[in-house]
Amino acid sequence: MTQDELKQLVAAAAIDLLPHGEIIGVGTGSTVNFFIDALAGIKQHIRGAVSSSERSTQRLRAHGIAVYDLNDVGQIPVYVDGADEIDPSGAMIKGGGGALTREKIIAEAAERFICIVDQSKLVQTLGQFPLPVEVVPMARELVARKLRDIGGEPRERTGYLTDNGNLILDVHGLRITQPREFETRVNQIPGVVTVGVFAHRGADTALIGTATGVERRDFV
Ligand code: A5P
Repeated sequence: MTQDELKQLVAAAAIDLLPHGEIIGVGTGSTVNFFIDALAGIKQHIRGAVSSSERSTQRLRAHGIAVYDLNDVGQIPVYVDGADEIDPSGAMIKGGGGALTREKIIAEAAERFICIVDQSKLVQTLGQFPLPVEVVPMARELVARKLRDIGGEPRERTGYLTDNGNLILDVHGLRITQPREFETRVNQIPGVVTVGVFAHRGADTALIGTATGVERRDFV
């Protein structure tokens, strides 16, 4: 199976876990694009979606799925999103697509986070994928220095602004053995909007696309 076929497989598997008649939280990325396309097939069974990016919003609307403002919705039963890496505890690196801030907000508002990934995203220790950190533009150099102090090598994502008008620093060379502590530490740097470690609010369930089918992991 190709990587895209594995992504399609887990996207379809996530559809089976959705409650009916509810507003669904929708992430961002190529795996989620397959999920949105699959969601279109059952759109009569859901009320609509809350979206984590302009890209996902456009795709949802193109399928005729209503997109709500999170402020008008409150808590949502389930959030479905991909990840760049996921470790054995359900902690993730996210933000490869740049949507990490809205993703973290919706994940926090959701009762349940279902992570959909192909098997290439499974890691023992987070950090091989460069860690995205969304930063207020005037704090770029300050935050970069602090990230160097903790052992990373930050590189600005060139020509890129987030949906919130901020920069992304992609931090190379990290080995994140304690994701919760690391997330807290980077969050405390002034000028950091969001760090792409999702450990305090990690996945509740991962659906993993493998050559032999979809493997499900539930994290306590
Ligand atoms: C988007 O900002 C990210 O957090 C994505 O969830 C992540 O990059 C996974 O994307 P793919 O499904 O395209 O690999």
